[in-house]
Amino acid sequence: MTIQSKEELFACPECKSRLHFGDNKINCLKCNIFFTYKDGIYHFLPFTLDDYDQEQRAVFDKISSGYDMYLNAQPFYTLIRDNYVYPFWFKDDFHNKTALDIGCGTGWASAKALSMVKLLVNLDISLGNLTYAQQRLKAHHSLFVQSDMKQLPFSDNSFDIVTCFWALHHIKDIRIVVEEIKRILRKDGVFLGIEPNPKYSWVEYWSDTMRFPNRLRDKVLQLHRRTQIHSQKHLIKEESYMQGIHMKYDHHAGMMNVKEYKSIFEKKGFKFVFQPVGLEMLPPRMIMSKNKKLVKILLDISDKRLRLAYYREKAYFNIIRAQKER
Ligand SMILES: C[S@@+](CC[C@H](N)C(=O)[O-])C[C@H]1O[C@@H](n2cnc3c(N)ncnc32)[C@H](O)[C@@H]1O
Ligand SMILES: [Zn+2]
Repeated sequence: MTIQSKEELFACPECKSRLHFGDNKINCLKCNIFFTYKDGIYHFLPFTLDDYDQEQRAVFDKISSGYDMYLNAQPFYTLIRDNYVYPFWFKDDFHNKTALDIGCGTGWASAKALSMVKLLVNLDISLGNLTYAQQRLKAHHSLFVQSDMKQLPFSDNSFDIVTCFWALHHIKDIRIVVEEIKRILRKDGVFLGIEPNPKYSWVEYWSDTMRFPNRLRDKVLQLHRRTQIHSQKHLIKEESYMQGIHMKYDHHAGMMNVKEYKSIFEKKGFKFVFQPVGLEMLPPRMIMSKNKKLVKILLDISDKRLRLAYYREKAYFNIIRAQKER
């Protein structure tokens, strides 16, 4: 299978018609609007980002330099990625496939998958995060696109795989995104994602941390500190990182339980399966231990408990797979 040319791959985010590629300018003749390609990044941001999306973008731009250190790519998240997401993910054959990662952030979550896919397109609303993704993935066959996942700048039926890690819950109405995913996936193409479970308190606590007044936030951070295995240096940075952020909106407006995701995907014609990931009953300190044997034992206990409905309900995250059937 050959990779589409950029003229075939991209489409106007507004009207979805073919684009005209000049040297650094990209033009939709129908809408009479221009997009740009600069320093290795395609800029397809819609002109009509609402307040919520503007803030989302500004916040992620602001925190991108510390992003890998605190929010993701820290031991807890890499543990989930390596023990749950990748094994689930790699049941699908990625060879020779065209993949799109939406809300790619700094690209750490999809980085390994690149060795297999033929082309990986990384899309995010935040230029800050994308710039870090670009540094991480520059050795790979990747494209970088700044855009809104509600208005994907790609032609119909152009991807085999769409991935999204911890980003759908940032979208106010994910039905629009699911419609877009469906449009750009080929038939039998798969969407693979992982999203937090709203019933699990640590997630709320993450989002709440940022909205607390300083005094309370310090308390929460102290608590947080006790549950993290980070060097002192990282912890000090973490505090200053949280302090500067003041947000008008709850950025997790699309947080839903997995049954709601299932219903939305199924209504749009996907076959949906999910697997809960539960670690919440185990102390993070132990899970992040360097002792691999201990970690394995703990993960096994966690998996066994997840067979009980009570724990499944409270799962930490849900890994989801949705296949386009029609
Ligand atoms: C919690 S982060 C997850 C990032 C990455 N997938 C990871 O696992 O680390 C959410 C990401 O979604 C992006 N995002 C938020 N709203 C978006 C939108 N409307 N379109 C595209 N990306 C968006 C943010 O900029 C941020 O990089
Ligand atoms: Zn157009």
